[in-house]
Amino acid sequence: MVGQLSGKVALVTGGARGIGAATARAMAVGGAKVVVADILDDEGERLAAELREGGYDARHAHLDVSDEAQWERVVATTVADLGGLHVLVNNAGIGTLPDVETETREAWDRVIAVNQTGVWLGMKHAIPAMLAAGGGSVVNVSSIFGATGGFGASIAYHATKGAVRLMTKSAALRYAKEGIRFNSIHPGFIDTPMVEQTKGTESEQLILANTPMGRLGKAEEIAAVIAFLAGDGASYMTGSEVYVDGGWTAR
Ligand SMILES: NC(=O)c1ccc[n+]([C@@H]2O[C@H](COP(=O)([O-])OP(=O)(O)OC[C@H]3O[C@@H](n4cnc5c(N)ncnc54)[C@H](O)[C@@H]3O)[C@@H](O)[C@H]2O)c1
Repeated sequence: MVGQLSGKVALVTGGARGIGAATARAMAVGGAKVVVADILDDEGERLAAELREGGYDARHAHLDVSDEAQWERVVATTVADLGGLHVLVNNAGIGTLPDVETETREAWDRVIAVNQTGVWLGMKHAIPAMLAAGGGSVVNVSSIFGATGGFGASIAYHATKGAVRLMTKSAALRYAKEGIRFNSIHPGFIDTPMVEQTKGTESEQLILANTPMGRLGKAEEIAAVIAFLAGDGASYMTGSEVYVDGGWTAR
């Protein structure tokens, strides 16, 4: 995949750790100039510095994806400093565990604001820059729980990941003739800080028992597919949903 992204400018939200950090690394190795956008400034700065030390072009930008003014600023700065924007990975996400009856309005609103509104805002503000650059590729990070009911919990998370799946298809159809591709990726359970709390619990046993491969995925195993979708090797893919889940959805 080396070189598939050369000459491109890629912005990865939630890029400071987990799947986002692995994706930022994969983008850099693929030849892109990378913007690591996150609310975790120390981790974001550290990753960008590590990539620069490795000879790559990377920088951190503070971005809360639920804040439209911050999107406007980060996209404008990216275009001004790096000469354009060609790839957007809407990866930032948070989760809550409660089910339909136990979820609170406050937590629901925050999950929707980050996982769903944040993805829409990202597309809204990246599209004009991509059109100006002659085209682009957006990869939206959904989940196996954007298409299946999982364990009957995490109502807000499911709501947002299902929305990401269909916003991706809507945008793909809108821009199919204008050179911008939109695809969603649907990870199974991946070994990142997000699933750390399940380690050593019954939930972990349940997850492993329900995963045909019998193990968690690695962030790098998601990043590799995101980098492929972002690059020109996927030039005829738009509106697709790609599952990287150790076989979870094959059942
Ligand atoms: N880990 C899994 O098992 C799994 C499975 C399916 C989908 N996903 C999805 O993958 C994506 C990445 O998850 P992860 O496992 O790497 O989680 P993570 O918690 O390790 O990383 C999430 C990143 O998003 C950032 N973030 C959170 N809120 C933000 C905001 N408002 N603005 C900007 N950045 C923000 C965090 O600071 C963090 O760096 C998420 O969208 C998640 O829903 C994860």
